[in-house]
Amino acid sequence: MDNIQLSKLRKEYKRHTLSESSIDHNPFLQFKFWFEEAIIYENPEANAMALATVGIDNKPSVRMVLLKDFDNNGFVFYTNYQSKKSRQILQNPNAAILFFWQKLERQVRVEGEIIKVSAEASDAYFSERPDASKISAIISEQSQVIENRQFIEDLKNKAEKEYKNKAIKRPSTWGGYRLKPVLFEFWQGRPDRLHDRIQYRKVRNTWKIERLAP
Ligand SMILES: Cc1cc2nc3c(=O)[nH]c(=O)nc-3n(C[C@H](O)[C@H](O)[C@H](O)COP(=O)(O)O)c2cc1C
Repeated sequence: MDNIQLSKLRKEYKRHTLSESSIDHNPFLQFKFWFEEAIIYENPEANAMALATVGIDNKPSVRMVLLKDFDNNGFVFYTNYQSKKSRQILQNPNAAILFFWQKLERQVRVEGEIIKVSAEASDAYFSERPDASKISAIISEQSQVIENRQFIEDLKNKAEKEYKNKAIKRPSTWGGYRLKPVLFEFWQGRPDRLHDRIQYRKVRNTWKIERLAP
């Protein structure tokens, strides 16, 4: 790039620290603490996360999705079950998610296997969505090639008429997934690129806590 000198872009990370004595021994609780801070300090989508999946061809693919629920069972997001990501998850359930909370100079990596959430849980979340989002979920064959913008606008207008004053049910092609973690890494930016990195690795049924070189 001619007018942007990327090699000169340099930011020092000096806001916070992360140490073995300050973390919670349960990675889900540690995530909760950081996530609560991110909700306060990140503007406005602290729940945006990159989701990496790899299909049968071993070629990785990454895209943003929104975290919609999490507890000790894992991290839940919603999507189209026939999208590219869903095809890859079907071929290979191993996946990774990544949060980057810039203002806090933090990154959280989570790796594990993905399973579908129950139809009841997907129904419950779908029912909370605004009608316009419900209609979009119904009409959009996510990740398929379409002719042009008008194609999807036409489908939307048609569906709006069809569903006017009617309850909109979740289509079977749309629902939730849960990533069940086997690895967490909490990264806190520190001065001079000597960052703090603490990982939690699931060994049998316990979490082994280790510090990684920056
Ligand atoms: C901030 C942000 C949040 C997003 N959240 C979602 C989401 O929760 N679910 C979803 O299916 N797509 C979401 N998207 C769109 C995806 O990044 C992606 O375009 C879409 O899911 C198709 O991905 P795929 O072709 O790899 O399946 C989001 C995009 C951005 C930028």
